[in-house]
Amino acid sequence: MLTLYDIPALRTRLADWRAARLRIALVPTMGNLHAGHIALVEAALVRADRVVTTVFVNPLQFGAGEDLDAYPRTLAQDAERLAAAGNHLLFAPSDATMYPRGRDGHTVVDVPGLSAELCGASRPGHFRGVTTVVAKLFNMVQPDVAVFGQKDYQQLMLIRRMAADLDMPIEIDGMPTVREADGLAMSSRNGYLTAAERARAPELYRTLQRLAAAVTAGVEPAAAERDAMRALADASFTPDYVSVRRQADLALPGHADRALVVLAAARLGRARLIDNLEFERGATATG
Ligand code: PAF
Repeated sequence: MLTLYDIPALRTRLADWRAARLRIALVPTMGNLHAGHIALVEAALVRADRVVTTVFVNPLQFGAGEDLDAYPRTLAQDAERLAAAGNHLLFAPSDATMYPRGRDGHTVVDVPGLSAELCGASRPGHFRGVTTVVAKLFNMVQPDVAVFGQKDYQQLMLIRRMAADLDMPIEIDGMPTVREADGLAMSSRNGYLTAAERARAPELYRTLQRLAAAVTAGVEPAAAERDAMRALADASFTPDYVSVRRQADLALPGHADRALVVLAAARLGRARLIDNLEFERGATATG
């Protein structure tokens, strides 16, 4: 596996691949790779001839007082895991490579509306940072396909919207959340949990499963959301939101909408955990 740190070297290698008519997939990550990330690389390998995985802890998507400095950086380990998975190129740029004039005053890509809701409401500017860095990576790599995890459901929807709005000719594929045996969604931030918190953490997913079953059985989403917030607080989480939305566009559902998703964010100790569960109203919840 090739590891590159600067943009000209990346472009040279990609030009060779394109000249050879190879299909290129991109897997953007912030590193500290776990089995969920490796599943994205494996999905990318099925979709393309060459897979580029990026590791960059993007300062633009962290707010003041968030965990930018503490975010785990494990590049050597990540490179080993990627090579073992069959990834072809690791691109690991520095802050200076990505933001040579600094972060302030950098041109941004902002998807209006949905960026300010759900996680965007409690993390102002977060999604602007995400869509800006993903747009830059799309421009650098110009992949045929890009693969993201569905754990970041709102992020995936915003990236799809950005690519459509800006006519980026890139297929955006979302892959199912990879979970630990007890149901906890894999996340680099799970490493912040103490042993006691880790034991309680699967309650987030269980709460979403109960909510989906209740709404499926006819409970109004708003009432089910309130019950879920209470259940999370009882389990020592500090819930940020629990919200039932339409799968298609993350708008609030009307009575006729059946394809729904419940999204939640909650703090447990130092970790802010997010999770979601798609379900069909009028059917048994799955996922
Ligand atoms: O999901 C992530 O890890 C990040 O938000 C992403 C898409 C790599 C952008 O920094």
